[in-house]
Amino acid sequence: MNILILAAGKGTRMKSGKPKVLHPVGGLPMVQRVVNTANTLQAAHLVLVIGHGAEALKHQFQSQAVHFALQAEQLGTGHAVQCAFQAMGDHPVTLVLYGDVPLIQAQSLQPLVDAASIGQLGLMTLHMGNPTGYGRILRDPTGQVLGIVEEKDATPQQRAINEVNTGILACPTHRLRQWIARLKNNNAQGEYYLTDIVAMAHADDVPIQAVQPQYAWEVTGVNSRAQQAELERTWQLHQADLLMAQGVQLADPARLDVRGQLECAPDVSIDVGCIFEGHVQLGEGVSVGPYCVLSNVSVAAGTRIEAYSHLSDAQVGANAVIGPYARLRPGAKLGDEVHIGNFVEVKNATIANQSKANHLAYIGDATIGQRVNVGAGTITCNYDGANKHRTIIEDDVFIGSDTQLVAPVTVKRGATLGAGTTLTKDAPEAALTVSRAKQVTSEGWKRPVKTPKK
Ligand code: UD1
Ligand code: CA
Repeated sequence: MNILILAAGKGTRMKSGKPKVLHPVGGLPMVQRVVNTANTLQAAHLVLVIGHGAEALKHQFQSQAVHFALQAEQLGTGHAVQCAFQAMGDHPVTLVLYGDVPLIQAQSLQPLVDAASIGQLGLMTLHMGNPTGYGRILRDPTGQVLGIVEEKDATPQQRAINEVNTGILACPTHRLRQWIARLKNNNAQGEYYLTDIVAMAHADDVPIQAVQPQYAWEVTGVNSRAQQAELERTWQLHQADLLMAQGVQLADPARLDVRGQLECAPDVSIDVGCIFEGHVQLGEGVSVGPYCVLSNVSVAAGTRIEAYSHLSDAQVGANAVIGPYARLRPGAKLGDEVHIGNFVEVKNATIANQSKANHLAYIGDATIGQRVNVGAGTITCNYDGANKHRTIIEDDVFIGSDTQLVAPVTVKRGATLGAGTTLTKDAPEAALTVSRAKQVTSEGWKRPVKTPKK
């Protein structure tokens, strides 16, 4: 099937240097959401109609299976569809979507596609309390759809109709080509209206199926920052509803932001103000404290993430305790029952089961074994100004506070490092290694006293 996504408009009201359709909703550029949904429909041949900000849009989709059609001048939605014809594939059905209507769901589109595949015109409409600004659906007394009238061309009686055109439609491709070729722009806006094909379908005795989306917000478009923010909140509440329905406990569904995909096992609990980005997986019984940010993270069952922790591109095992105020950076891989406490930063490091770093440490480019205790203030000196080097800490090591491990260096199994050690050579197995200036006491030493002013 051909799927046309109209995205040539400027989006003047966003007051932005960036094309409107690249502004995000739910953590993804609006038009990317539409493309992702389109890709879930079978045999999708995607054509993006671009005009304003064409370069930025080509860049966004450079490595994706999307065809482009340039609409240099925006002469109306019908003209936009016409511009897409050369880039379209040889498919019997064409579906029209919009880059600034980001939350349309595949499930709601299916009945339209089904109608078009049996030769009908599928039209997505919606009943609205306040239909101002939309095209109105004209029906005959038996309820048959006759056509669409744009608000600017409508009579007062027609304006009283509250069934509106969402713009989304699916059509047999050969019909679409015929009808678009016949469009005229003799209307209030001097535009080629895609909506005029509905009256043509009626005249050609093509049955018109009007279908409604499951949720009204699926067909809500974004024209301003205020509408973007409003749709964002609507989407987030919907995500929260879905999570709660799956058995997730949310302290406040209005204070959750899922900017990607959050997968939760049963009995996950999430406190207020948390942000989930990319793909996040939380195992059974995981609890996430207030104001945490988790981005592309997997957390196994029973783990607690305490307040104000920031985790990105990391894996955490089962029954671990992370935070408060912990930071897991890309490549952090923690085993089961690991404890990472306040102001501990872990980057590109593996920490095996039951090891602990409870306070103020930097663990970067390291491999840490099981049951290791990393004292407060410990730092892996992983960078020599040019290259990164690895620190290896084997099982059952105890690292005293304020230790610097100058990589590359290895601490062998069962070793103890005394507090304050600067380790530059490997520490042998099971022994105490300490590098520290000898402590001296000067008996009879007197503190200097202030010389009195004359
Ligand atoms: C259109 C419909 C109207 C419907 C409304 C729903 C027509 C004639 N009218 O009106 O019935 O109720 O959408 O929101 O179709 N675009 C292009 N090229 C163009 C013109 C538009 O790519 O030449 C794109 C815009 O970027 C936008 C979308 O198509 O994403 C809709 O265009 P817009 O001018 O906003 O349509 P409306 O006048 O709102
Ligand atoms: Ca218009």
